[in-house]
Amino acid sequence: MKLQADRALAYRRSEIRVLFDAAAKTPGALRLEVGEPSFTTPSHIIDAAAKAAHDGHTGYGPNGGLLSLRELLVEKLFKVNEISAEIDEVVVTPGGMNALYSTFGILLEPGDEVLLPTPGFPNMDEMIRLYSSKPVFYHLKAETSFLPDLDELKSLVTPRTKVLFINSPSNPTGCVFDDKTMTALVEFANQNDLWIVSDEVYDELVLDESVRHVPAARFDDDGRVISIFSFSKVYAMTGWRVGYLVANRQVADLARTLQEPQVSCPSTISQKAAEAALTGPRAPIDAMLTSYRKRLGLALEIATNNKIRAVKSAGTIYMLLNVGDYGSTGDVKFALDLLKSHKVSIAPGSVFGPGGIGMVRISLAASESTIEKGIIGIADFLKKGGR
Ligand SMILES: Cc1ncc(COP(=O)(O)O)c(C=O)c1O
Repeated sequence: MKLQADRALAYRRSEIRVLFDAAAKTPGALRLEVGEPSFTTPSHIIDAAAKAAHDGHTGYGPNGGLLSLRELLVEKLFKVNEISAEIDEVVVTPGGMNALYSTFGILLEPGDEVLLPTPGFPNMDEMIRLYSSKPVFYHLKAETSFLPDLDELKSLVTPRTKVLFINSPSNPTGCVFDDKTMTALVEFANQNDLWIVSDEVYDELVLDESVRHVPAARFDDDGRVISIFSFSKVYAMTGWRVGYLVANRQVADLARTLQEPQVSCPSTISQKAAEAALTGPRAPIDAMLTSYRKRLGLALEIATNNKIRAVKSAGTIYMLLNVGDYGSTGDVKFALDLLKSHKVSIAPGSVFGPGGIGMVRISLAASESTIEKGIIGIADFLKKGGR
């Protein structure tokens, strides 16, 4: 029997998973490769989900999410993101990942091109290829504070360009786009008649208290921005799989319809947990943010003391370290050698596309001592010629 699914066979697994698997088999490994909050879900959310299950919320729900959750999301979007959305413009999905997959399924024809950032969230280019479409990278460079370069974007547009994908706060750079950048990006999309898929799953994880997250949808006046949010990172709810998209009514209706053949509906129990996350106490959520901020400060200090140039993240739960200064590419081999010799597991820069070469990403979602020992291990490895 021959497998005919060429697209599936061509799918490349994220190489962060290679490190993840290797680290899992390395006793005592310092785990800095993962994008997983170090906290379990706050207990009031878990309790609310258990109660909801006992109260009978264990069946299928509507394709696009429970009305009660979408009502709360409309409030959240208004208060937190200053986005005015109608209830039917919000579609709840099993994680931000499914919101992205559904969105690209609605927008892309085979051969369409999508502008993607590099370094950027690694799953995106493979997702675009699964739709027989073409990822086209634009660069986020340290010299320009990891902000998109409008001239480069203009130079990449072809008659097949359909979507501009943006991600702020950005994984892995930690950059948070300002008002001016967002306005210019929406204007660029208007001029070139592109959709914007704006991945804002780290919207409430702004680490630099002097900046604010700016949602792209705030500048959208003709419904070309599709915003993607998630409960995963902000509320330490990665395993519950609840995300949502906000889009114009036509896109939202299609997204709801496409839930049926993919997942039927998001988990009802998880949606009840998400409701508790939105209505419950903020203190546990704020405490997690405070920890990430503290760890960022610590990581920067240790990196500097050990002569590694670090990128000061303004948001997310990650930090980039520059290993290129030591002549290293920070690729998968570098990461596996580092794991073998110093038991430090990092995300190789190469997984974030060509723009990630010369860097590695560490997670701020590890304990302070893991972060400290991990950076010291990386520095030692580099000084000994790790490349
Ligand atoms: C930039 C970005 N977008 C989307 C996701 C997907 O998150 P989830 O599916 O857990 O909501 C992630 C997860 O790491 C991410 O980093």
